[in-house]
Amino acid sequence: MIPKTSALCALIVMGALACVSAAPAKPQTVHPGDVWPDDKGNHIQAHGGGILKQGKTYYWFGEYRAQDNEPSLRYVGCYSSQDLVHWKFHAPALKMAAPENLGERWVLERPKVFYNAKTKLYVMYFHLDSSDYSLARVGIATSKHVDRDYTYLKSFRPLGQISRDIGQFVDDDGSAYLIFEDRPNGFHIAKLSDDYLNVEKEVCLIPMHMEGGAVVHYQGLYYAIGSALTGWNPNPNKYATATSLSGPWSEFKDIAPPEVNTYGSQSTMMLKVVGSKSTTVIFMGDIWKPKTQWDSRYLWMPLEIGDGKLTLPAPKVWTLDIKTGEALVGG
Ligand code: DGJ
Repeated sequence: MIPKTSALCALIVMGALACVSAAPAKPQTVHPGDVWPDDKGNHIQAHGGGILKQGKTYYWFGEYRAQDNEPSLRYVGCYSSQDLVHWKFHAPALKMAAPENLGERWVLERPKVFYNAKTKLYVMYFHLDSSDYSLARVGIATSKHVDRDYTYLKSFRPLGQISRDIGQFVDDDGSAYLIFEDRPNGFHIAKLSDDYLNVEKEVCLIPMHMEGGAVVHYQGLYYAIGSALTGWNPNPNKYATATSLSGPWSEFKDIAPPEVNTYGSQSTMMLKVVGSKSTTVIFMGDIWKPKTQWDSRYLWMPLEIGDGKLTLPAPKVWTLDIKTGEALVGG
């Protein structure tokens, strides 16, 4: 016979286990345009960002524009997640002073991180500029660690051209590309050197004046998205397709009804999530608030994509099953 106290303990333990097993899983729900809290409850600071996947972990890098930043420094935020919904804050991966006497109002925008398997270095590219945006270069910082200790290496104009907004693209075969906007000439897709520390080869120059560039390879076709040049104000972002990155690219068409101006956002990346049942391509956009940049929001939505067509649906709450790759809008 079980003594009374042990029986009571057993009941308590069973009750606790029941509570554990009954605890609801965290909802995998994305709320486009809302404050997006990290694991500390603070709005995520990863604006103009990009995603790097390492193993099963996604790292989101972007402009860290917290209100209490030291005004002369620039910060790159780093967050990690297993499900693309719940994000753990890591201390800013890069925190730096103006590298080239650029003055207090210097610009570091749209950081993107690549992992170079040969050198085992994480290579961060960003748009480096003066306050009047006349420098128009890319900056590079590297680290041995994905989430910290990036140190500034150098800046240059890729392929000798002006470069402002940048985007990143890693193809299914692992080749890494920088997308950059060169105002006189257009929208470049350029291959990185073997060590990723240089931009080596023009793959395509699309003679379109577009920034916020993003590319995805989906079901045998490349899709490129870009935004018009309207500063922080939203505009109708457009897409084109090609069977090869080097083109020829189709004509650019609107990704959403033009009057909604990309639902107030601007493209920064397209993220392909390949699951056991389905592949979802997520449009990652920024809803900029130029006067209160720390409060700028994110518009992430699963794209309707395939057979050469791409549509950004109206923003709604949606859920993502990271294992199956299925996205459910309105779920
Ligand atoms: C538009 C760009 O797309 C943004 O990333 C930012 O550079 C603003 N211009 C600055 O005006």
